[in-house]
Amino acid sequence: MKNFMKVAVMSAFLVATGGHAAEKKIIRISTTQTDLVLQVAENGRLYQSYLGEKLRHETDLAELSWDVHAASDGSVVPRGWEVYSGSGNEDFFEPAVAITHSDGNPSTWLYYVSSTQQPVEGGVQTDIVLRDDRYPVEVTLHYVAYAAEDVIKTWSEIRHQEKEPISLSAYASTMLYFNRQAYYLTEFSSDWAKEAQMSSQPLLPGKKILDTKLGSRAAMHMHPFFIVGLDRPAEEQQGEVLMGTLGWTGNFRFTFEVDNVGNLRVIPAINPYASVYTLRPGEVFTTPEFIFTLSRQGAGQGSRNLQAWARNYQLKEGKGDRMTLLNNWENTYFDFDQAKLEALMNEAQDLGVDMFLLDDGWFGNKHPRNNDRAGLGDWEVNREKLPGGIRALTGMAQKAGVRFGIWIEPEMVNPKSELFENHPDWAIHYPNRYTYYYRNQLVLDLSNPDVQDYVYGVVDRLLTENPGIAYFKWDCNSPITNIYSPYLKDEQGRLYIDHVRGVYRVMKRVNAKYPDLPMMLCSGGGARCDYEALKYFTEFWCSDDTDPVERLYIQWGFSHFFPAKAMCAHVTSWNKEASVKFRTDVASMCKLGFDIGLKEMTPDELQYCREAVVNWKRLKPAILEGTQYRLVSPYDTHHMAVNYVDSARQNAVLFAYDIYPRYQEKLMAVKLQGLDPDRMYRVEEINLMPGAESSWKAHGRVYSGDYLMKVGLDVFGFRSMQSRVIELTAQ
Ligand code: DGJ
Repeated sequence: MKNFMKVAVMSAFLVATGGHAAEKKIIRISTTQTDLVLQVAENGRLYQSYLGEKLRHETDLAELSWDVHAASDGSVVPRGWEVYSGSGNEDFFEPAVAITHSDGNPSTWLYYVSSTQQPVEGGVQTDIVLRDDRYPVEVTLHYVAYAAEDVIKTWSEIRHQEKEPISLSAYASTMLYFNRQAYYLTEFSSDWAKEAQMSSQPLLPGKKILDTKLGSRAAMHMHPFFIVGLDRPAEEQQGEVLMGTLGWTGNFRFTFEVDNVGNLRVIPAINPYASVYTLRPGEVFTTPEFIFTLSRQGAGQGSRNLQAWARNYQLKEGKGDRMTLLNNWENTYFDFDQAKLEALMNEAQDLGVDMFLLDDGWFGNKHPRNNDRAGLGDWEVNREKLPGGIRALTGMAQKAGVRFGIWIEPEMVNPKSELFENHPDWAIHYPNRYTYYYRNQLVLDLSNPDVQDYVYGVVDRLLTENPGIAYFKWDCNSPITNIYSPYLKDEQGRLYIDHVRGVYRVMKRVNAKYPDLPMMLCSGGGARCDYEALKYFTEFWCSDDTDPVERLYIQWGFSHFFPAKAMCAHVTSWNKEASVKFRTDVASMCKLGFDIGLKEMTPDELQYCREAVVNWKRLKPAILEGTQYRLVSPYDTHHMAVNYVDSARQNAVLFAYDIYPRYQEKLMAVKLQGLDPDRMYRVEEINLMPGAESSWKAHGRVYSGDYLMKVGLDVFGFRSMQSRVIELTAQ
């Protein structure tokens, strides 16, 4: 053991120095608020020497250090803190990368080779090359630091030149270390109609893993993001938190490991479950991007960092406008025809929304899509329901004065479809076992390039033949079941990963040809909500649960990582105990839409909705483009409040909701945030039922921003499911 260590350290030194003094090579990755400092140690390997509040003096960087252990021969051995720790080295905890080389050796020791930094859009990119000293294996670490938004995006590439393929059984995007008194994890668990549910727990010695194994409807049970409260549980407005999210629309795994001396390592990665990946010589394994921010003003500031970053650099059309819409799903389900749709388009126009969105059920002839048991895969318009085809529908929409959007689920197939009859080998399923289904469907094998071409062709053909289509809702209702790819044959370890890469190839092609096409990412609700897919989608459907009470929690949860313009919220008839006003006011804090039969509303309710649409459009600069402040949490109280402020701090809007208040509970004023303390703001209650006058005592009054932020407004009441929307205008 002793000799082995000596040899390793010695050879490391040779590799790292290559004749030059490589010690003290320091790499600084900085935003305006945060420093991540990496340093090459005497053994030639790369360690994290700092991650925290930005340091003022460059000269201090050389003073940073990390845990070292004296070996029995007197040499000093770092333990932990290696930036991309490989399997089989002297670190006793979870590695970033685990490789079995072509000769069967399971160890990988990576030594620093070189690094470069260059400006990129919004920040500075750092690329660092590491190499094994005994095997031709190379890892490149990439970091982009977005200075203004205080966000760092990081990913890695693994490649080799061994004679035979190597096997990867761990392939993290990165690794981050913390040395703090205590750690508290907030996770966002999920299920159908129960997305983004927040819960927190301390991280104690050992490992906590958040992961999914669903393949396609990947985030159905757990979302790919988390918060770690450092030293104390995460709070909204104070304290230091790490907020991280992985851009991967497939199986992911976050490992949080507290080691024997109380240090925490955070390892975001693709989940290696059933995915020992055979990497061929010359092939590059690119990990997903891990995006994180370290906020010292609580989760609120962390969210604002991520929301701004997403709009500026990641989300499709992040700076663009969004369309309000009327969807027909909850109104008609599969039961519609041309005449019914035409009437709905006219209703959409009357409501004042921008678009009519036709949902599931418009396709399939031999196996008509009249329920969820048939037709998926046959993207020909159903001639019985819609004899004029999509063309007739886009024409009708144009006549009604609204845009036309359409639902697709192109990655899936019902066994009862012509597609499956013709290409059974295009579906992921076992050749030799009973097939089990989720929602009566199978997932197409997107690891197969022919299937990729087919799926791309579905979208491309619809758009080429029907240039009037202005929007897609792209659904994905099944996890991968029966995990076997007829295409990959004896390389099944690649399935989960190559399938997701195939999905991206399709999305990329669609995006390249139709860069301006707005698209909604949907997955039986919000089971796809990650920042890689959102490069190709303008927004996502947060949940099929549109009960406004439940939505308050769901939207609160998602807002931690996504801007309001990415989050679709529709007014529906879920929870008719709640007024149409309450339902609409809840949907108005995100990207507003409707999915309700307008005929089921009273004339007053309909008029209310029309005015709410007008108000929402006027407030778009604050809600969609402005800054969001979460003020009162539904998790801590029986209420919720959030305000948005536009970039000029000229206009703002406060949404306040009473959920189920207790009898005579103590009601606190809501202190706004983000206003200009020295300006005067007129506050007006809007979104009132037709003919109603506001009875709110502050209605029409003028207050300073300072007063509104320090004293606040009494907006809560005692009655269940009530809401107030307050518009603030600087005078
Ligand atoms: C699941 C989606 O979440 C719904 O909005 C709807 O589009 C259905 N699929 C249609 O099958």
